[in-house]
Amino acid sequence: MEHRQNAIGIFDSGIGGTSIWREIQQQLPNEHTLYLSDSKNAPYGQRSVDEILALSIKNTEFLLDQNCKLIVVACNTATTNAIGYLRAHYDVPFIGIEPAIKPASIATKSKVVGILATQGTLNSALFEKTSAQLDADLLIVEQVGEGLVNLIENGAISSPEMTALLERYLSPMLNANADCIVLGCTHYPYLYPQIAAITGPDVQIIDSGHAVALQTKKVLTANQLLTDASGLAQHHFYTNKNLEVLRTILNDVTVPINIELRDF
Ligand code: DGL
Repeated sequence: MEHRQNAIGIFDSGIGGTSIWREIQQQLPNEHTLYLSDSKNAPYGQRSVDEILALSIKNTEFLLDQNCKLIVVACNTATTNAIGYLRAHYDVPFIGIEPAIKPASIATKSKVVGILATQGTLNSALFEKTSAQLDADLLIVEQVGEGLVNLIENGAISSPEMTALLERYLSPMLNANADCIVLGCTHYPYLYPQIAAITGPDVQIIDSGHAVALQTKKVLTANQLLTDASGLAQHHFYTNKNLEVLRTILNDVTVPINIELRDF
């Protein structure tokens, strides 16, 4: 039963999935984790479905070579384009992340929901299928967050360019009377303070990170893969570009972590 002590593998196109890692670490503090930041290939959002699939396979195989017991695809773009293939071709359980439009459709009173996500997510068949199941009287204002991931990957979270882009992307949602805004990309929770400053207190900002962590716990439990170790968990972060940006985004983490530049 060594298997249950193996790490949870997590990957994203870059540093954004660390927002999901934080939720997982809180829910499952005894679990070892291995996080891959594929920053060299970010952003995935403007890539073709075939490219997103090939990158997702590469990341998955790297994590499986490190004996990860479960993989969290901490990227909406990779999930909505590749999770079906991954589940069909590999034996480990996969947890994906999709934009939280269903919870938003329940929370909204104005019946207008804004969604900020990548082009790859908004164009995906999976997103189309989920949207089609929502109430017909609901208005979904979709917006591609072009440029946001690039700025975050380059360490420019609090730049004037970021504020200008966010104002431009959120205005049509607010003008349409959206009272819920869905963050459909795992990089965007890092923009929460700026987004909230633009939307004001009456607009709810919704992301899927907490739900993903709960689902990870549920699937580990169902598969008898929860660790029974009680020692200090090990957390390895590998990035293939911009080591310092990853270090900076994680600099408030209080548990011991190890961050390395690796080729994958
Ligand atoms: N964090 C990824 C997501 O959730 C960003 C995609 C990208 O690299 O464009 O969609």
